Amino acid sequence: MSNNNNAGGFSHERIETSNFLMIVMILLVLAVGGLVEIVPLFFQRSTTEPIEGVHPRTPLQQAGFDIYLREGCYGCHSQMIRPFRSETLRYGHYSVAGESVYDHPFQWGSKRTGPDLARVGGKYSDEWQRIHLNNPRDVVPESNMPAYSWLATSKVDADALPGHLKALRSVGVPYTDAQIASAAEEVRGKTEMEALIAYLQGLGLALK
Ligand code: HEC
Repeated sequence: MSNNNNAGGFSHERIETSNFLMIVMILLVLAVGGLVEIVPLFFQRSTTEPIEGVHPRTPLQQAGFDIYLREGCYGCHSQMIRPFRSETLRYGHYSVAGESVYDHPFQWGSKRTGPDLARVGGKYSDEWQRIHLNNPRDVVPESNMPAYSWLATSKVDADALPGHLKALRSVGVPYTDAQIASAAEEVRGKTEMEALIAYLQGLGLALK
C-alpha cells in the first residue's frame, strides 16, 4: 500500500517517516525563510539611513541617553509607536526605522508600565520635566514612577563623553573630529538632570 511513486528513491514518505530527515528539512526551510526575510533589511535605505531631520544627538543629549540607559528607564518605557489607530491617536505618527539609526542600543522595547516616549520631545516644558523627574507625584498624583531627584545634583561625567562619541562613530554615527574634541567642554558642569531633559526633549521631533 505504499504511495511511493517516485521510483528514483526520494519520496515524501521517506522524509515524513524519518525523525532525522524531518528535523533537518524543517531547519533548512526555517533558515532559508528567515534569511530571505531578514537579510534584505540590512541593505534597504528605509531601515539603514536616517529620515530627514534625524541628526546625531548633541553631546549633552548623548550624555542624557547614557543616563536613560543607566537608570533603566526602558524597564517601564518603550520608544516605538505601533502603526495602529489607537497608538497614533495617542502618541502621533507611528515610529519608522530611520528614526532610530543613531540609537545604540535602540530603545524600541515592549514594556509599558509608563507611556511610550518615542515622541515625548516638546510635549512638556523643561520645567515640567524637571519637576516630574524630581518627584513624579508633584505633577501626576497617581504616578508610580520612581523619583530621580539626585540627578539634579550629580554632574555629567564630561571626560567620559569623547570616548563614547568615538565608539558611536565606529558603529556609524557621523560625529566629526571637531564635535568629539569639543564634547567634554560642552557638557562640563551640567547636571545629569539637564542632560536627561535635553535627551527627552529631542525625542521624535523629525516626524510628528
Ligand atoms: C517603574 C516604572 C517606571 C520607571 C522605571 C520610569 N518611569 Fe517614567 N513613567 C512611568 C509611569 C507609570 C508614567 C505615567 C505617570 C507619570 O506621568 O508619572 C511615566 C511617565 C513618564 C513621562 C511622561 C510621559 C508622558 O507622555 O506623559 C516621562 C517623560 C518619563 N516617564 C520619563 C522617564 C525617565 C526619563 C525614566 C528614567 C530616569 C523613567 N521615566 C523611569 C513609569 C516609570
